[in-house]
Amino acid sequence: MRSGFSLFLLATIQPLISALPLNSSEPASWDIEGFAKDNPLGTTTGGEGGPTVTVETAAELKTAVAGDSPAVVYIKGEIALPSRLKVGSNKSVIGVGSSAHITGSGIDIYSRTNVIIRNVKISFIKGNDGITIRNSTRVWVDHNEFESDITQGPDAFDGQVDIIRASDWITLSWNYFHDHWKSSLVGNDPSFRDLDFGHLHVTYHHNHWKNEGTRGPAGRFGHLHVYNNLYEDYLYQALHSRSDNQMLVEGNVFRGKTREALSTYGLVIPDDSPNTCVCGDEEIDGFANLGAENDWGSATVNITQVGTFDKAPYEYILTPLASVASVVEQGAGVVLSTCI
Ligand SMILES: *[C@@H]1O[C@H](CO)[C@@H](O)[C@H](O)[C@H]1NC(C)=O
Ligand SMILES: *[C@@H]1O[C@H](CO)[C@@H](O)[C@H](O)[C@H]1NC(C)=O
Ligand SMILES: *[C@@H]1O[C@H](CO)[C@@H](O)[C@H](O)[C@H]1NC(C)=O
Ligand SMILES: *[C@@H]1O[C@H](CO)[C@@H](O)[C@H](O)[C@H]1NC(C)=O
Repeated sequence: MRSGFSLFLLATIQPLISALPLNSSEPASWDIEGFAKDNPLGTTTGGEGGPTVTVETAAELKTAVAGDSPAVVYIKGEIALPSRLKVGSNKSVIGVGSSAHITGSGIDIYSRTNVIIRNVKISFIKGNDGITIRNSTRVWVDHNEFESDITQGPDAFDGQVDIIRASDWITLSWNYFHDHWKSSLVGNDPSFRDLDFGHLHVTYHHNHWKNEGTRGPAGRFGHLHVYNNLYEDYLYQALHSRSDNQMLVEGNVFRGKTREALSTYGLVIPDDSPNTCVCGDEEIDGFANLGAENDWGSATVNITQVGTFDKAPYEYILTPLASVASVVEQGAGVVLSTCI
C-alpha cells in the first residue's frame, strides 16, 4: 500500500473523487477507460458473472484461472509461481488487501480475451516478462505494482508488461512501475509488420513510472494513447514511437533525471538494446501527436513526424496538468481493498 487509501472496494469500482484532496469535481476516474472499454469487441468485463474463488497457493491459482468460463479469482498473500501462469479468457485476477504478490514466474495471457488483472504486486520475475499479452484482446491491467532491480543492467530482467503478436484493445491504468530497465514493449519485432499492423491499440493512463530505463512504453505498428502518466527519473528514454507506430501523448508529467521524454526517431538507442551494433539498431521512425499540454520538465522531445492519431476515439477524463503528479502518486499501485 502506497498511501492513505483504505476505503476502496476494488470489486465494485468506485470513483476516485472521494479520496483525493483535490478541488475538482472529477480529477480522474478509477473506472475502466480507454481501448479496453471502448472497442468493437465490447467492454472488458473479466470474470463478471462467474463464481468467486480465493486462492493462496500456486496450485490453487493455476487451477482457478484455467479454462475460459468466467471466474473472479482473489489472490491472498504471496505466491511464488514455479512456472508461467496461463490465464484463460473471461477472468478477473484481483489481489486481496495490499499484500497480494506474485514472484518467481510471471503471467501469460496467450490467445485469450477478456482478462482483468488488478491490485497485485508482481516483482523480480526472472527470464521473462511480468505479464505477456500475446495474440489476445480486451485486457485491463489496473492498480498493480511492478518492481525489479535496475542496477543489474538492461538484460537482467525482461519487460514489465509486454503486448505482442496482434494483441488489441488493452488498457494499462494506475500501475506503479519502478526500479526496472525495459518496462513495456508493444510489438516485439520489426519484422512482424503484417501481423501487427492494424492491431495493438493500447491506452496507458495514470501510471506512475519511477527509476526506470526505457520503454515507458515503446511501440511498433500500434496506436498508443498515453495520457496523465507521471514519469520520475525515467533515465534514458520514456516514450518511443518507432516502426510506423502512432502515439497520442497528452497531459503527462516528466520529472527528475529523465533524459528523453518522447522520441519518434526510429533508432533503438544502445541504452535499450545494443543488439547488432554498439551505436544502436536502426528502425524506421514512428509518429507522435501531442494533445493536451504535457509538462516535459528538463527532458528532451524529438518528434520527427506527426501522425494521424490526434484524437482518442472514446471519452475519458483528463486530469488537469497541475494535479497529475499528486493524483498519480496517491492513486497508482496496489491499494488496500478492505471489503474483499
Ligand atoms: C475550491 O474551489 C472553490 C470554488 O471554485 C474555491 O472557492 C475554493 O477556495 C477552492 N479551495 C481550494 C482549497 O483551493
Ligand atoms: C469466454 O471466452 C470465450 C473466448 O475464449 C468466448 O467465446 C465466450 O463467449 C466467453 N464466455 C462468456 C460467458 O463471456
Ligand atoms: C490467436 O488466437 C486465436 C484465438 O483468439 C487462435 O484461434 C489463433 O490460433 C491464435 N493464433 C496464434 C498464432 O497463436
Ligand atoms: C532526433 O531525430 C533526428 C532524426 O530526425 C536524429 O538525427 C537526431 O539524432 C535525434 N536526436 C536525438 C537526441 O536522438
